[in-house]
Amino acid sequence: MDHFQYRSGEMFAEEVPISRLADDVGTPFYCYSTATLKRHYRVFADALNGLDASICYAVKANSNIAVIAALARLGAGADVVSIGEMKRALVAGVPAANILFSGVGKTEDEMASALKAGVLQINVESAPELETLSTVASSLGIDANVAIRVNPDVDALTHEKISTGKSENKFGVDWPEVPGVYARAAALPGINVTGVAVHIGSQLLDLDPFRQAYGMVVDLVRTLRADGHRIEHLDLGGGLGIPYDNEQPPSPKEYGTMVKEVVGDLDCKIFFEPGRLIAGNAGILVTRVVRVKKGTARTFIIVDAAMNDLVRPTLYNAHHAIVPVNEAPDGAKLTEVEVVGPICETGDTFGRQFLPEPGEGDLLAIRTAGAYGAVMASAYNTRALVPEVMVNGADASVIRDRISVDDMLSRESLPDWLSDDEEARGQEQKEAGD
Ligand code: LLP
Repeated sequence: MDHFQYRSGEMFAEEVPISRLADDVGTPFYCYSTATLKRHYRVFADALNGLDASICYAVKANSNIAVIAALARLGAGADVVSIGEMKRALVAGVPAANILFSGVGKTEDEMASALKAGVLQINVESAPELETLSTVASSLGIDANVAIRVNPDVDALTHEKISTGKSENKFGVDWPEVPGVYARAAALPGINVTGVAVHIGSQLLDLDPFRQAYGMVVDLVRTLRADGHRIEHLDLGGGLGIPYDNEQPPSPKEYGTMVKEVVGDLDCKIFFEPGRLIAGNAGILVTRVVRVKKGTARTFIIVDAAMNDLVRPTLYNAHHAIVPVNEAPDGAKLTEVEVVGPICETGDTFGRQFLPEPGEGDLLAIRTAGAYGAVMASAYNTRALVPEVMVNGADASVIRDRISVDDMLSRESLPDWLSDDEEARGQEQKEAGD
């Protein structure tokens, strides 16, 4: 359930009419609902009742500091995959001691910054990464708390681009190598083995792959302990899917029950890293119709948002429901239209849907855009990065300003040899003649 509902035919974010926000900030823009974020967090936390659990929100899903802060106030930690994300989490008020550092390609600088900040744990994804971390930690005189992210070779039954737990994926240590990597970790200076981590993919719609992978890591914890390793943390990753269309993902409650069955009385602190589940349905992308173009094959609704603002439909053929901000009267005829952006690529489409045919200037809301929306935006076609607005009851606040074309141009410059500045060009020509 979310808090983007119609009142007398007009869409509101909590107590705020979307059309008012559109007038205030201009379109396109992302709009997030605090009540929805909080609700999703609480539903997930409740489903884990009875476990010694800690929720580290996967910041990559939506890394605006206001979103992180809203969750941090509820007790969420953070799962980060870059120093940029770590900085965001810290600025948003997540204590370093509640930050998990994941990622397949951490640089030495990133490792050093994470260690100096005092993060809770670094999830190591390969044997060479472990060696480097040992060197970096030893040179700083710090012991790194480490979990090894394992790759259980389990098919998450999701889109191939967001599946991470098969042996052909780049993530985690291959299952047969795992005991050897733990043995090496125990012998290395600067490494303090604390746990096991697993994350098999995103937008999972079935509990079975989770059950299989989690069962494997629970057995692994027992074996590692028998081998003398002190395993205190079990990081079960994120990945629980959400409805975009007619999917029926397992509920957080069903997921929690499954985890309790599989983990039993393992006596581990269990970390979860949900991203999409928390943020996905807490955000919409609001866009305005620029033009209606009736072709022989199709009717195109050309809007002012594009694939650079929300790339999921282009990248993963993902479906996002598109709805009018002002509802059409009852009984209005539905037409199949293709909603497209203005970018010069055929792939710049939000998909074909049946809609009461919108007209120029109408506002549309692209739903379920709170996760992997704004964070994946680019400035392709020199389009400004769209603002983000957060609503809380009757309050609304711009939590990221539009990053304008002028902002972008201010960071570019002409090299001397192309400059109109006589002196600089003269110097350049003189050097060329020498
Ligand atoms: N933990 C790790 C180690 C991850 O790699 C991810 C997501 C998560 C947690 C959070 O997963 P979630 O609960 O959000 O499913 N851009 C794609 C999704 C990429 C997910 C990457 N990793 C999309 O738009 O569908």
